[in-house]
Amino acid sequence: MNQIFRKKTYSGTPGGYGLQRVLGVWDIVFFGIAAIIGAGSFSSLGEAVYKGGPGVILLYLICGVACTFTALCYAEFASRIPVAGSAYTYAYASFGELAAWVIGWALIMEYSFGNIYVAFSWSDYFTSMLDRIGIHIPDYFTCSYPEAKKAFLGHSKNQQLVRAWDTAPEIGGLKIIADLPALLINGLITALCYIGVRESKNFNNLLVILKLAVILLIIIVGSRFIDTSNWTPVSKITGEPSFLPNGIAGVMSAVSGVFFAYMGFDALSTLSEETKDPQRTLPKGMLISLALCTLIYIILTLVVTGMVDYRKFDGVGDPLSFIFQPENVDLPWMEFTVSAIAIVAITTVLLVFQMGQPRIWYAMSRDGLMPGRFQEVHPKFKTPSFATIITGIIVGIPILFTDKTFILDFTSIGTIFAFVLVCGGVLMLPPRDKADGFRLPYISGQWIFPLLFLTGLGLFCLFDADFFRNLFQFESAVEREFKISVMIYLIILAVLSVFAFTRKLSLIPLLGLASCLYLLTGMSHENWLWFGLWFGIGLVVYFWYGRKHSALAGGE
Ligand code: ALA
Repeated sequence: MNQIFRKKTYSGTPGGYGLQRVLGVWDIVFFGIAAIIGAGSFSSLGEAVYKGGPGVILLYLICGVACTFTALCYAEFASRIPVAGSAYTYAYASFGELAAWVIGWALIMEYSFGNIYVAFSWSDYFTSMLDRIGIHIPDYFTCSYPEAKKAFLGHSKNQQLVRAWDTAPEIGGLKIIADLPALLINGLITALCYIGVRESKNFNNLLVILKLAVILLIIIVGSRFIDTSNWTPVSKITGEPSFLPNGIAGVMSAVSGVFFAYMGFDALSTLSEETKDPQRTLPKGMLISLALCTLIYIILTLVVTGMVDYRKFDGVGDPLSFIFQPENVDLPWMEFTVSAIAIVAITTVLLVFQMGQPRIWYAMSRDGLMPGRFQEVHPKFKTPSFATIITGIIVGIPILFTDKTFILDFTSIGTIFAFVLVCGGVLMLPPRDKADGFRLPYISGQWIFPLLFLTGLGLFCLFDADFFRNLFQFESAVEREFKISVMIYLIILAVLSVFAFTRKLSLIPLLGLASCLYLLTGMSHENWLWFGLWFGIGLVVYFWYGRKHSALAGGE
């Protein structure tokens, strides 16, 4: 039993791998923006707006806050363990092997499955740009099979998807539908990672400036077309004009799309060995990037929902060029510019994630939790070649068999879960007497946390009295699932409050935990089922392989 709690001791010193410390705060911010702003803002924003209406900006704010607390917890871990690593490394040193494995397993959902969604988005913009210059790829080669089928069966308003199903050629009764551009970009990125791309600071900074410039352009040009009545469409619940036309349950059901836009900031912790004074620079860099991104997302969402009625975004994968299409504000030059730059912007995220995954596997394999081949380094290119190819395959195959919404939900739930473990983990770390570098400020949660909980609960009862009064009446399946999740959430918070009070727990990780858990209330029960399945498979693999082959197993 003790085996699953065995811990790894890291004895490296910062800079021990001979890497040069060249990165300052603003370089970290630029790397942060390179990893954060991508498919989330250029693509999943569309679905998020469709589900939550203009009020979805509240969710962008909540996610920004949750990620900020989590970033602080990451920084605390990073400053305690003197080697570059991810949540996996930190968990191994602090909580032992099983927790490390669970996080490593959840990170596959963030990096590999996350990249499936990013590849789909890349394809949406790529096709839309080609269309603008008169090259049309047949619709059945621009989306995945399940996506087209779902659109056809559900009588979706998305004509492109329905057309893909109607016009697809058939072989032996099977319709041939595949997202070829997504497969192509995955192949190219895998090849790039295989031969090894040098992360060049200057090139990266140039791409980030381009990305920010196009967002600024959309905001400036788009704000001329804002019709403020779009911000208060008729509510589906009350029939009155409302900023939250689908209610708070509608906003929360957009959580996957919104949270996805923040994923990637955690990849910054892998840069600690190339950062000057990392224990101060990294947390600062992470926090500045998160604050900037939150601001950008909120303004962008306001502009987009002001320009076009939120209901038109159903199934739209390229919302930022869609708003400039003829059926909306009709500005062809903007539609083209946005698509062209989106392709570049999204590619940077693909690279960060596709390079991150093999490096996590490399670490897990070095620890014996994954087969030795995952540590294979290419003799010429000096890259983790085998792990890179497996990443390419894991991203590539589901491109053929999954749809965007499923992947988005799956990857977001896994990543939020990893963040919950990181925040919860910091709560369990022993206190430090000597503080060198960054140290998470200790503010006692003994009184503050239970008080916040009770105040929050009181306000909730006051402003949404119907929630409790009609606890067992549901307008829709979304509302039923949301109510059940909220009740479970409130029970967890009550238990946490008791622990905060009796054990004087630290406030910041408590708030991180509470806000990340809140995000999980937006997940549908179906998402939980899939996640549980993935989690179960992970446990089986660990007990069948990792526990026996662990590098720590020999010493027992
Ligand atoms: N946050 C990253 C993106 O939006 C994953 O592409």
